[in-house]
Amino acid sequence: MTRAFTPLAGRLATTGIAGLFALTGVAFGQGLPLPAHPSTAVTPSSLLTQAIPDGTPNATQLRRGQYLVAVGDCMSCHARPGGEPLAGGLGLNTPFGTIYSSNITSDKETGIGAWRSDQFYRAMHDGIGAYGENLYPAFPYPWFRKVSREDTDALLAFLQSTPPVHYDPPRNKLPFPLDIRFAVKGWNLLFLHGDAFQPDPSQSAEWNRGAYIVNGLGHCGACHTPKNALGADRAGQDFQGGKLDNWLAPDLTGNKRTGLGNWSVDELVEFLRSGRSAHAGAGGSMGEVVGYSTSLMSQADVHAVAVYLKTLPASPAAATVSPDAGAMRRGAAIYADVCAACHLQNGVGQSRLFPPLGNDAMLQQSDATGLLHLILAGGRVGTSTDAPTPLAMPSFAWKLSDAEIADVATYLRNSWGNQAAPVVAAEVAELRDKLGLQSLRLTPNSGDRP
Ligand code: HEC
Ligand code: HEC
Ligand code: HEC
Repeated sequence: MTRAFTPLAGRLATTGIAGLFALTGVAFGQGLPLPAHPSTAVTPSSLLTQAIPDGTPNATQLRRGQYLVAVGDCMSCHARPGGEPLAGGLGLNTPFGTIYSSNITSDKETGIGAWRSDQFYRAMHDGIGAYGENLYPAFPYPWFRKVSREDTDALLAFLQSTPPVHYDPPRNKLPFPLDIRFAVKGWNLLFLHGDAFQPDPSQSAEWNRGAYIVNGLGHCGACHTPKNALGADRAGQDFQGGKLDNWLAPDLTGNKRTGLGNWSVDELVEFLRSGRSAHAGAGGSMGEVVGYSTSLMSQADVHAVAVYLKTLPASPAAATVSPDAGAMRRGAAIYADVCAACHLQNGVGQSRLFPPLGNDAMLQQSDATGLLHLILAGGRVGTSTDAPTPLAMPSFAWKLSDAEIADVATYLRNSWGNQAAPVVAAEVAELRDKLGLQSLRLTPNSGDRP
């Protein structure tokens, strides 16, 4: 199983099985004592949540490191499904090929057990490996370079205290000349900017803490900032919404239509801690981010993240395009037929069960990929640990044709206060193929739907 990631791309396998994997990991892994044979029985969540006893040498630094592994979401990338936590081997799909995450357990041969603290800092800060080789930016060092030396030291101390796992991840599959790590030097020259985090003295300590997390270990922009053809952030478009792996990480700016303009700080905190809010549920790779990272952050840190996000200036308003009246009419009929049973005729849904669809940011993203993915594949999974059996959205790939999905998407994007560009059938067809759902394709029916 592979997963893609930024800055070179987005990651895969974050829906369905992998999402459930993350969910059950969180739901059942918490608070487990360290098993007798850690290398075989430690789960991703137990590693992140097991208590480090008081008498342990360096307990304070180790606890800090354990916490920072959650803040940095190291687990989502450094554990392959069913594999030992932090042993790596998860394939990240990038537009350039597959890159496998490294083994970062304490194993001295295949992991980072023998690394010195300056080597680790150089990896996190400059993307340079132990042998002086360039690491690929699928490892989010362009963000991790903001992390302080004190924090990287704590991270390394914790990682070197984890059970050693002797495992070599598969070799990367990159076409020439990208298999030459040297090429990354050029990428760094072009795109690796900024240095350690500089606090803004005109802002509060809480805002600065949020900025440090969001732009550093939290690497939120790795998914939420749009990318150029080389997978680097598009200049001046920070957090304006990024496409990754056939999904869309929405606009996080103050834009009231497409961003977080209508979310309160408390609603954001609720979402990051539980994967749910009155506005949205955490689907796609955000489910794992919540499960392995933001749900494990302290209340104070999550609050700081929310306070900082709420100050991001609004992205520019998208041009409005009026939808075709025929598409709206057909879309309304399909909605009444197959969607309204859960979301209700007027789109108001049921609080915390079926999200309301009016004035909805996800529906109004300029790129409809997230919405189409959801209708085609279903399977959005909430990650709330206090709601262990979340309701999932069913898949409609077998029930609706590409044209019908385009119509119902166009209808939702332009009803109940929403306003966004119409969707055409070719867009749905392309995504259906990428998701491997071709075999379920219906031929458009002759319009005999009620
Ligand atoms: C988005 C996915 C992703 C996340 C999140 C991530 N990594 Fe990685 N990491 C990778 C990939 C992919 C590689 C391999 C890069 C390569 O081969 O050039 C890697 C490589 C590394 C390496 C280099 C290891 C070596 O043997 O050269 C270290 C160290 C590392 N990661 C530490 C971390 C830590 C610590 C965190 C959390 C704070 C983290 N990573 C989070 C994807 C990720
Ligand atoms: C691995 C990619 C990834 C990372 C890293 C990531 N996100 Fe997300 N995020 C997503 C995706 C994909 C969605 C859309 C989920 C959906 O449609 O259900 C999302 C949704 C959200 C939403 C809901 C927005 C809305 O309008 O519905 C918020 C808020 C959010 N993310 C905040 C964050 C914060 C804060 C961070 C950093 C701590 C972060 N994300 C890191 C991928 C990511
Ligand atoms: C069986 C009940 C059910 C049906 C039928 C259903 N949905 Fe959903 N839908 C859900 C659930 C449950 C969620 C929330 C998933 C989550 O957040 O984990 C959801 C979420 C959504 C969202 C995400 C809203 C947001 O901002 O987070 C959209 C959009 C959506 N559905 C559209 C549709 C469309 C279009 C149809 C018909 C083609 C449809 N739904 C049919 C149950 C349903």
